[in-house]
Amino acid sequence: MRMRAAVLERFGEPLVVQDVELADPRPGEVLVRLVACGVCHTDLYTASGADPSGYAPAVLGHEGAGVVERVGEGVTSVAEGDHVVTLFSPQCGECEHCRSPRTNLCLAIREQQNKGYLPDGTTRLSRDGKDIRHFMGTSTFAEYTVMPEIALAKVDPEAPLEHACLFACGLSTGLGAAMFSARVEPGSTCVVFGAGMVGLGAVAGCRLQGAERVICVDLSEDRLELARGQGATDTWLGGQDVVQRVLDETRGFGADYTIEATGNVNVMRQAVESARMGWGLCTVAGVAGKGETLDIVPRYLITGRRVCGSSFGGVKGREQVPQLVQRYLDGEIDVAPFVSHRMELDDVNRGFELMHAQDGIRSVIDF
Ligand SMILES: NC(=O)c1ccc[n+]([C@@H]2O[C@H](COP(=O)([O-])OP(=O)(O)OC[C@H]3O[C@@H](n4cnc5c(N)ncnc54)[C@H](O)[C@@H]3O)[C@@H](O)[C@H]2O)c1
Ligand SMILES: [Zn+2]
Ligand SMILES: [Zn+2]
Repeated sequence: MRMRAAVLERFGEPLVVQDVELADPRPGEVLVRLVACGVCHTDLYTASGADPSGYAPAVLGHEGAGVVERVGEGVTSVAEGDHVVTLFSPQCGECEHCRSPRTNLCLAIREQQNKGYLPDGTTRLSRDGKDIRHFMGTSTFAEYTVMPEIALAKVDPEAPLEHACLFACGLSTGLGAAMFSARVEPGSTCVVFGAGMVGLGAVAGCRLQGAERVICVDLSEDRLELARGQGATDTWLGGQDVVQRVLDETRGFGADYTIEATGNVNVMRQAVESARMGWGLCTVAGVAGKGETLDIVPRYLITGRRVCGSSFGGVKGREQVPQLVQRYLDGEIDVAPFVSHRMELDDVNRGFELMHAQDGIRSVIDF
């Protein structure tokens, strides 16, 4: 079929919205009609050429939600008409990692996905007979996408898809960092560094876990205001003095949990150093620039602090994204404040500009 899609033609240049061909779903695959898609930093990062593993031409986009249009042979877990959230982090349910409760990093289709192909090593996207690659296994800056069944989370059709799409990446990453990676315990003191989509999600996650004190640190007063709306009990402007301030306010010990959601390695270091001696856990969700390293003085570890990373918030997508969406429908997560701009696919490059200017939290494309 022919459809409109935003294609990354050349790194560092605007995406080109154009007609491309999408082939039918093969066995184990599903055709999804996109209804909404958020614009995330990873799309921009890849489009800029900064990501060394990027490839072009490719259809970008990974924060999608839509409706199943048709299923390929052998697909049993979703059916025509189902509402789904796309997962760049799939859940096959069978691999060594899926069978362990300790990680969400499914091994099933990683290799092909990283190269821009569907699991059988081919693409469904083309133009004039030439292949176009899939981005993150999702390619949701398009009217339709073909994706593996194991990379779709079926959600309650009551959930508006322009909100549900945020659970495909940023919001689940933040919520999950607190809920599934850190497993914040009730009554604890948490510090969240960064109040973008991921940090704000983490603030909400700490609140849902029953944290007593949630300190959010950012450079923007506007964003700190949003953090208060998500349950931050304290909001501080970031800077050199933050570690000392955390220590001063915790009888010199540090916070039970710190979550880093800025992508800045100096802030990651602050997050490690403001975790409590004895048992403080620092969870790193931000993605650092190519070649950057995180400096940790080993003494911080000897004295009982721990550091962990978190991809997609440790969320096992097919199982837990629907649960998170349910908590949103139950009124426990306030998603509306995150959607700052709504636009058409043709304006996707404006979505990048807004993100670059830190104007709003998320732009959502309506199809
Ligand atoms: N782990 C994952 O699976 C995953 C998924 C999505 C995004 N990410 C990463 O998470 C990070 C955050 O994503 P986002 O969409 O929320 O980004 P964002 O740019 O919207 O938010 C980052 C925030 O950090 C703040 N910040 C910058 N310097 C600071 C400082 N010194 N002290 C305190 N705050 C500071 C900024 O003001 C901004 O509000 C990025 O690195 C992104 O690539 C990771
Ligand atoms: Zn798996
Ligand atoms: Zn993303």
